[in-house]
Amino acid sequence: MTYPIVVYGHPVLRKVAEDIGKDYPGLQQLIDDLFETMYKSEGVGLAAPQIGKSIRLFIIDGTPYAEDIPELADFKKVFINAHITEKSGDPEFMKEGCLSIPNLREEVSRDAHIRIQYFDRDWVFRDETYEGFIARVIQHEYDHLDGILFTDRVSPLRKRLIRGKLNAISRGKFEADYQTILR
Ligand code: NI
Repeated sequence: MTYPIVVYGHPVLRKVAEDIGKDYPGLQQLIDDLFETMYKSEGVGLAAPQIGKSIRLFIIDGTPYAEDIPELADFKKVFINAHITEKSGDPEFMKEGCLSIPNLREEVSRDAHIRIQYFDRDWVFRDETYEGFIARVIQHEYDHLDGILFTDRVSPLRKRLIRGKLNAISRGKFEADYQTILR
C-alpha cells in the first residue's frame, strides 16, 4: 500500500526519530510500502517520518535516475537505525527538493564525505563511507530522522525569502500530484 506524504508544518517532521528493534511489527511490509510510496511520488529517497512514523528508517533508490546521474546506477538501499559517525570534506552546494515541501527547490550546502553505520533490511550491520551525490541524498534523508528539513540549511537570505512560501505550504496552499497529509 501507499501512504500519503506528510507535508511541512506537521509536527512529526520535527521530531527526533527513534531506533527500532529487529522485531518491529510489520517491518518488511513497511519497507515495501515506503518504496511503493516513493515510486508513486517520484522521489529518490523517503524517510519514515515523511509517512508519519517517527522511527530511524529511510530508503533510497537512485536507479530510475541513473541515466542523468551515473553514480546512482544500482544504488537501492534500506537504512535502519542509521547514524552518521563522520562528516568531512569541503561543503558542496546543490539544489535540493523534498516530497514534504512541494514545489520548492533551494541550494543546500552538504559535507562532501560521510561515514554511516546502519542495518540493512536483512538486519546486517553496515559501516560505509560515501561521497558526492549519494552522500548528499543520504544526508538529506538522514536529516529527516533528526527533525531537520533542507530548508533549515539554506542561506539566511534565502530563508527569509522562502518564509512566506513555507507558511503557505503549511496552510495547504500547494499542489502536488501525489497524496499528502497536513496534520
Ligand atoms: Ni526530504
